[in-house]
Amino acid sequence: SWTMASFIRDSVEEIRSTVGDRKVVLGLSGGVDSSVAALLLHQAIGNQLTCVFVDNGLLRQGEAEKVRSLFKQHFHMNVRFARAKAQFLDALKGIVDPERKRKIIGRVFVEVFDQEARKIRDVDYLAQGTLYPDVIESRSAFGGPSAVIKSHHNVGGLPRRMKLKLIEPLKHLFKDEVRLLGRELGLSDDMIWRHPFPGPGLGIRIIGEVTDKRLSLLRKADAILLEEIKAADYYGRLWQSFVVLLPLKSVGIMGDQRTYEHIAAIRAVTSDDAMTADWARLPHDLLGKIANRIINEVRGINRVVYDISSKPPSTIEWE
Ligand code: XMP
Repeated sequence: SWTMASFIRDSVEEIRSTVGDRKVVLGLSGGVDSSVAALLLHQAIGNQLTCVFVDNGLLRQGEAEKVRSLFKQHFHMNVRFARAKAQFLDALKGIVDPERKRKIIGRVFVEVFDQEARKIRDVDYLAQGTLYPDVIESRSAFGGPSAVIKSHHNVGGLPRRMKLKLIEPLKHLFKDEVRLLGRELGLSDDMIWRHPFPGPGLGIRIIGEVTDKRLSLLRKADAILLEEIKAADYYGRLWQSFVVLLPLKSVGIMGDQRTYEHIAAIRAVTSDDAMTADWARLPHDLLGKIANRIINEVRGINRVVYDISSKPPSTIEWE
């Protein structure tokens, strides 16, 4: 019978015989798929694997540190951190259109990744945490129906110029199998059950131009939201929850001072597969607590609204 243990055994053997004494590079995002792929490859070929983590400056609070402590300190893996915030923010300057943002972020990612990968000697292989549904989706109509609406760049966006050979050790697995595999490889529940986070990151959760200042506001507000969602035990019941920063300002009052600051929207949805989604019926008290904390703790946001739209016709992300 098919078990996780035998899947790991077979995969390890196959990876070893494919790779031989050459090296493999993998783009580690900290999401479930790339994390599990990294652990499986590490088990097979140890330090012949180099992971590249691109810090695009569009990540959530503490994200780069979390990846560093888990994969470097805890799992003792080879991870290179490319700190490329300036490159991304420069390229995004003045850009407002969501699809242009996605394309720019995708392009700069490939440039930065390519640059890092070139520094690795004897690298012949590029590993990706592609799952079975990703394979199917990218075959149908060039990215599936959703990709026509939003150009996701999870599949097929990585370096072509280097002519690396692809290794996709998860390509026959579904998400639930990847979670089981992750657990078997020592990944914590915390990591295994992480909500999806889009490749373009906070770049598409700031409506309008992406600036350093706005990123810092959004990062703080988003951290508060996540903390409260977890404390109230709602994280596991939601598909995603996050804050969207609007380029609009509204008037408020703080002490005896008039304020004129940003509006933030809370988005929390339930879903099975992201194709459809319903806005989450979060308790009013929880929403109140989150809104209070954001307004009191994040200078620059003085109003919080809750998004009660479902998909379709709305999408999960605002851009
Ligand atoms: P939408 O907004 O289309 O999102 O309802 C559906 C799911 O896809 C995620 N998403 C993205 N993921 N790159 C990604 O890697 C993207 O450009 C992107 N846009 C949306 C979104 O977070 C949700 O889970």
